[in-house]
Formats: sequence, structure tokens, C-alpha cells
Amino acid sequence: MPKITEIEDLKRLYKRRVPKMFYDYAETGSWTGSTFRANTSDFDELKFRQRIAVDMTNRTTKCQMIGQDCAMPVALAPVGLTGMQSADGEIKAARAAEKFGVPFTLSTMSICSIEDVAANTTKPFWFQVYTLKDDDFMRRLIERARAAKCSALVITVDLQIMGQRHMDIKNGMSAPPKLTAASMANLATKVPWGLEMLGTKRRFFGNIVGHAQGVSDPSSLTSWIGEAFDHSLDWKRVAEIAEMWGGKVILKGILDVEDARKAAELGVDAITVSNHGGRQLDGALSSIKSLRPIVDAVGDKVEVHLDSGIRSGQDVLKALAMGAKGTMIGRAFTYGLGAMGEKGVTSALDVIHKEMDLTMALCGRRDITTVDRDILLIPEDFEGRWQSN
Ligand code: GLV
Repeated sequence: MPKITEIEDLKRLYKRRVPKMFYDYAETGSWTGSTFRANTSDFDELKFRQRIAVDMTNRTTKCQMIGQDCAMPVALAPVGLTGMQSADGEIKAARAAEKFGVPFTLSTMSICSIEDVAANTTKPFWFQVYTLKDDDFMRRLIERARAAKCSALVITVDLQIMGQRHMDIKNGMSAPPKLTAASMANLATKVPWGLEMLGTKRRFFGNIVGHAQGVSDPSSLTSWIGEAFDHSLDWKRVAEIAEMWGGKVILKGILDVEDARKAAELGVDAITVSNHGGRQLDGALSSIKSLRPIVDAVGDKVEVHLDSGIRSGQDVLKALAMGAKGTMIGRAFTYGLGAMGEKGVTSALDVIHKEMDLTMALCGRRDITTVDRDILLIPEDFEGRWQSN
């Protein structure tokens, strides 16, 4: 087994092991992929200030996200179809997160159900919901998350309709994979993945199949989203869902200062600055460039997290320095999961932790909660070339 020292190592192994359609599902953005690419490349514009002769003993990355203790300011993001990247993938990722001491978020679009994950973990996890038309299903879903003792509801607000992802359409992406000549030829090269999948608990969307009515083809993400998602979603509905839950709420998918202000007025516990990993509105600003104006506008009223584009501990540190109190990683842990199951997720978390800890030290800080803009050199026009009007 090659030595894993960076997230790229996991990505290479992941690509080799997992069928093309699931690799493509995770790895591509919408349309031209310009926002997907900017999410990572914009981090490079921020530079660290190297500081010397500062005591670097006794460092800590411990912190809190929404009042919960975390080993580092990183949560596993909700990722659809995680159980297709590795058999029972949601359980494996949740276990790795639990052992590491960071939050795991289960996606509505998961293969393992809320109950499967709860039965195989010992600590509360976060549950993510989309806003769905079927109010009864929505209520039952939230009830199930409550029964499973989930400690926060992550409401995704940037996917009431789906951005077009060329590769998913071309691949006919579905769970389990549809057997066409091309997918069978590819599956034939993925024998370890296939053997592992023979023993999986489930092959369909575990939170949906058997629980939702009127879904004619639950194997197809696109058709389910087209049929079931509430295209009429507005702030009133967001407030209703938050109220249905009654516990801690994170609104995920905010990119604009005006929306951040509205979210803060709702009194949610946190907002996640995110463009859905560049999978929704291609041509939107990257998350890291959207972050600072949002923190400046609402950071004293609501906790702000950042998602989209994080592939290293240095990226996490930059997000914190720009004002985020926490971050989410999606692809970075999915690579690990697809490459090596639970061990791979742990490996991704280890890599990120180590990079964060060492970089923090080289910037002259010992405690992650003291990281601020002072550790960065920020280009004058970092966000400034784009003004809303
Ligand atoms: C679902 O959230 C997706 O981005 O595919």
C-alpha cells in the first residue's frame, strides 16, 4: 500500500478502485466546472505569514462547532451516494468521524438509512435535509432524525433544482449502477469494489425507498430530485422546517451577503458558506471569496462555516483566518472512503489535521481558536473585483 501523505494520494487510489460513474459523480462540477475549479484555486491566492521564534509547544486544534466539542474545526459534509463509493460507506465514514472526534453529516441521499448509521455509531451525528414537496415525508424524515438522536439538522438551501452535471447525464448515473455496455466494461475493471458491494446492506437510497410515496424511479437521483424537491422553497418554508426540528439548525448553501443576513434573522445556529462544491450555479464565486464579506456582515450574529474547495489542512486554516468558525469537507473524505473504506476516511482526517497543525505552528500560533486574519497576506482585490451592483 503506498504511503498516504496528502489527499491527492487518496484521490489516485479512489479513482482506481471505484466505478467511473461514481468517481465522476463526486469529482465533477456543473456545466463548465469553472466554480468547481475556482473553489480550490482561489485558496492559492491567500498567502501565509511565516513567523519565527514563537513557542510552538503544546499546540491544540480542539474547538467547538455549534457548541459541540470537536478535535478540529472540520465536519464531514453531507455527500449523496456515499454508500456507492464503498459498501455501507455512510457507516464507515460516520465511524471514522466519531473516532476522530469530528461531526459526521448524513445526507438525505445516502444509501444507508438514518437508522442504519445510528445503530452502528455511539455518538450523535448531524442529519441533512433537502426541502421536499411532500410535507408528510419531510415530517417523518425529521422525526426519524430526532428518534436517532441527531444533534443538528443541516438544511440544504441551494438545491431546490439541480445544476446540470454533464458527466452524470452521459454516464446514466444511478444507484445501483445501470448495466450498459460501457458501465459493464468499466465494472469489469473494479472487481474488489464489486465483491465488496455484494455484501452491502443496501443498494438504494435508504432514507427514501419504502418511506416516500410517488417516486417512480428512486434509483435515479436526477428523477427523484425533479419529482420530489420543493421548487417553490422560500424563507417561510425554511423557517417552518427549522421549527419542525426544534433543535440546532445549520443552513447550508449561502453565498450572498443578503441571504446571509436573512439566515441570521431566522436565528439559526450556523450558516455554511457553500456553492455545493461547484455542483449547482456554475459561474458563481468560490466559497473562499464569498466568505469574508459574509463574516463581516453577520459573523457577530451567527456562526459561519465554510464548505467547498477544502483539500488540505492549510485550506481549513485559511478559511478560519478569513473568519469561519468551522469547515466541511466532502470530496476530501470521499476520496479516502472510496480508496480504503473507514481507514481511508481516517487517513484523510489525519492528513488534514497534520497539515493544519504544522502550518498553524509555522504561522506562530499554538491554539486553533486564536487563528485570525493576522496569519494571512490577503491580496487587496481578493473579493473586490466582483460587486453585486
Ligand atoms: C447532491 O447533493 C449532489 O450534489 O449531487
